[in-house]
Amino acid sequence: MTAASEVAGRAAVVCGVGAALPPHIVTNADLTARLDTTDEWIRSRTGITQRHVAGVDLSTTDLAVHAAAQALADGEPVTVEAVVVATTTPDRCCPATAPAVATRLGLTGVPAHDLAAGCTGFLYALATAAGLIAADTAQAVLVVGADRLATLPDPEDRTTVPLFGDGAGAVVLRRGGADEAGALGPVVLGSDGTGADLIRAPRPGALYMDGAEVFRHAVDRMSTASRQAASAAGWNVTDIDRLIPHQANSRITSFVARQLGIPDDRRLGNVGDVGNTGAASLPLLLARSAADGRLEPGHRTLLTAFGAGLTWGATTLTWPGLSPTRRPEGAGHDR
Ligand code: COA
Repeated sequence: MTAASEVAGRAAVVCGVGAALPPHIVTNADLTARLDTTDEWIRSRTGITQRHVAGVDLSTTDLAVHAAAQALADGEPVTVEAVVVATTTPDRCCPATAPAVATRLGLTGVPAHDLAAGCTGFLYALATAAGLIAADTAQAVLVVGADRLATLPDPEDRTTVPLFGDGAGAVVLRRGGADEAGALGPVVLGSDGTGADLIRAPRPGALYMDGAEVFRHAVDRMSTASRQAASAAGWNVTDIDRLIPHQANSRITSFVARQLGIPDDRRLGNVGDVGNTGAASLPLLLARSAADGRLEPGHRTLLTAFGAGLTWGATTLTWPGLSPTRRPEGAGHDR
């Protein structure tokens, strides 16, 4: 039988966070110049005012490396022994992104793989990394969410182009005790392939989305998963200091907070500045909020996401003493 202390020593503890955004910004005004839309429509329906978009010389791998480098530089010094990259927009079908990311960070030789779960990919990757730590495969794991979702819509489609942006975020998880600040609580995950057609992109430039149905599922699934994750962690929803929801649409996250009974000033967001960045969304928001002080050490934090698949999930952690030194702006070489 496993001793309780050994189990406690197998928790996954967040000990570094970082993010990267392409320097090029596309504003709503830029879009109204070429699409039949208005700034007012986009802001009132989505909360988005601008998004960062990568040029051809800034790949998903580049964004992932920039975010990971910040997480490693600003966090606790640890030896990373595995890399997981969540992405829906890898630079190529084969090989995976993660081995290249690992090598560019000087980590050649460690296990490294990609994971695709739409905009929920980062939560799936956290669960995978916690499993690698529990299985004794690695003492510390780099988890990256990186996407270039701006490549997916048809450039002429006013209903989807305004929604998406590019970016990457990363956390480092190390083995530790379940009672430590930064320890991940139980990770609730789910999927429903009967909704596969609601968001689909057979190739870049050909995204289809049933916006209203996706909206309804997103609110429902994130609210339910959040309640389950809070309960599994032994928290009441009223204990939550900060709700960190996937950033797709500020109306969606507002509905989720309302359904959970979480006051709006505890709901963090940055969709207005970055749009929907897919698997990068949660770690980007964590990094930015920790840097600007909206997320403080000791805050009981709930993460939740929803995405294509359909997929969804949620988890909890008490935010540790981490604050990236730089805001995640302008990382990248096409500055
Ligand atoms: N500018 C102006 N009008 C637009 C427009 C735009 N960019 N996009 C759509 N419209 C029009 C539509 O053509 C429609 O016109 P009609 O009434 O004449 O047919 C009208 O606005 C309403 O469209 P609708 O799709 O009902 O709007 P909505 O309030 O549902 O908002 C979304 C659309 C996409 C913003 C919303 O459904 C949404 O955010 N869905 C979830 C998307 C998401 O989260 N995806 C990723 C999940 S991870």
